[in-house]
Amino acid sequence: MSFNLFAAEEEALAKARSLGKRLEADAPDCVAEFNALIAAFERSTREQQRLVRVSDRLQGQLNDANRELERRRTEAEAALDRLREAQEAMVQSEKLASLGALVAGVAHEINTPVGIAVSCASHLADATAAMRRRAEEGELSKGDFARYLGTAIDTTDLILGNCERAAQLIAGFKQVAVDRASAVRRRVNLAAYIQDTLVSLQPKLRPAGHGVAVTCPGDLELDCYPGVLSQILSNLVMNALTHAFADGRDGDMAVVVDQPAPDMVRLCFTDTGRGMSEEHRSRVFEPFFTTRRGRGGSGLGLHIVHNLVVGVLKGTIAVDSAVDRGTSFTLLFPRCTPED
Ligand SMILES: Nc1ncnc2c1ncn2[C@@H]1O[C@H](COP(=O)(O)OP(=O)(O)O)[C@@H](O)[C@H]1O
Ligand SMILES: [Mg+2]
Repeated sequence: MSFNLFAAEEEALAKARSLGKRLEADAPDCVAEFNALIAAFERSTREQQRLVRVSDRLQGQLNDANRELERRRTEAEAALDRLREAQEAMVQSEKLASLGALVAGVAHEINTPVGIAVSCASHLADATAAMRRRAEEGELSKGDFARYLGTAIDTTDLILGNCERAAQLIAGFKQVAVDRASAVRRRVNLAAYIQDTLVSLQPKLRPAGHGVAVTCPGDLELDCYPGVLSQILSNLVMNALTHAFADGRDGDMAVVVDQPAPDMVRLCFTDTGRGMSEEHRSRVFEPFFTTRRGRGGSGLGLHIVHNLVVGVLKGTIAVDSAVDRGTSFTLLFPRCTPED
């Protein structure tokens, strides 16, 4: 390449040299000066050739560096993709884990009414068998019959009442679980829905002795993805139990709902627990930020809450907290979720 580039210079030099030969005969007094000029031109041409070689080498190095940079960029992008996939998988498993907790809650809550119904039914069966024996033996008195009637009426009342309670619980849970798993859009009464969700959390709330006071207009109807609301609420409650009231600290929670504008809903979840420092408060929505790493914390709970509020409910969420002063999360979202 440098050869071609300097062909004109080489040609000029050759011409100058033959001109120099003619000068030796025609103008000998100019020869020394002319030769000096030729030498200077030669030096300058060589210097230029050297510079071109240096520049070629630098260009080559630059190309290598660019290729290396490109390779590393591709590598970094692939790593980022893998990280996103891993994060997505963890978000999914956190969702499943909370669905699992919900199912465990259902089983626990339903145990009591079903248990009572079963023992009442077995008591009734025993009493009925005893009646039959007495009747077969011809020893049935009026008193026996009256007592049996009393038992039958009491136990059937208990069986019915407890079966109804179980059916109600199942209906409430079914709705919450289906919404949670399937992200169906529908109309819901917010106050009733908050209650259903809190009932499913009772097994966690009761042993710890923390109450959740709910203040919500009874006639507030939402048209939204209610499973998302239930997921958000249970993440906030579980966080209060594990972080705000850690180590047996007492305190309570409150959910307060109001409407700052006719088509907007504001839901405030507050705990009176131990709060957080400003440094932690500013990072709570970051994925994987947890102060309980290695002790059951994934750091995804509030990240999921944030994504659900912003991505699904099309709202905003803010957190306010101070050490020893409790924490409050304020969600603001449209009453009817807009479609994208
Ligand atoms: N109600 C709360 N009171 C005090 N700290 C909280 C509360 N909720 C969340 N935090 C803090 O925010 C962090 C992130 O919460 P989260 O994203 O749910 O992750 P994890 O619960 O797995 O730690 C927690 O580790 C905790 O330090
Ligand atoms: Mg959490």
